[in-house]
Amino acid sequence: MLNKNMDIRSHLAARFLRKCGIDISIAVSQDTILLADGFQNEYKQVILNILNNSKDAITSRKETDDMMRGLIEIKIGNNAKRDKVIVSMLDNGGGIPDNVMEKIFEPYFTTKGETGTGIGLYMSKTIIETNMGGSLTIRNVNGGAEFMISMPVSKL
Ligand SMILES: Nc1ncnc2c1ncn2[C@@H]1O[C@H](COP(=O)(O)OP(=O)(O)OP(=O)(O)O)[C@@H](O)[C@H]1O
Ligand SMILES: [Mg+2]
Repeated sequence: MLNKNMDIRSHLAARFLRKCGIDISIAVSQDTILLADGFQNEYKQVILNILNNSKDAITSRKETDDMMRGLIEIKIGNNAKRDKVIVSMLDNGGGIPDNVMEKIFEPYFTTKGETGTGIGLYMSKTIIETNMGGSLTIRNVNGGAEFMISMPVSKL
């Protein structure tokens, strides 16, 4: 399901992010099993939702500090038991306040007023957990938000 080579769409996404002044890095741990079952296009949608949110958070932080360097770090690997494919996406957009954190997966919850629908993370969670048997979790990590998508390794 995950392709080691960045396809054209992720190439364009990376270019778009760089245009917004955001550096993106992708690291795949050695010998990672990358095979999982599911719906490729839905999975891509989830990645794009998360990237977009990170871009929004970094962009709004840049409004008050235009010297800051936007960073998105993607790490791909397996858990110790090697039965999960884990994609971690970390940004430096300031993280999520506690009172917001408890609501981010609710449908129509947004802090972006007119410009947000609040559907992105609700949809992402449904895709990963209800439709694909994985898990989508989030935590704050020094100065940013980290999203983790975990999928069972395919039993082929
Ligand atoms: N990386 C992040 N850093 C800080 N806050 C975030 C991050 N990702 C999500 N959030 C918070 O979670 C809320 C819900 O996100 P969600 O993607 O569901 O909706 P949205 O981005 O507001 O709107 P939409 O995705 O429909 O454009 C956001 O409004 C924002 O407050
Ligand atoms: Mg969003």
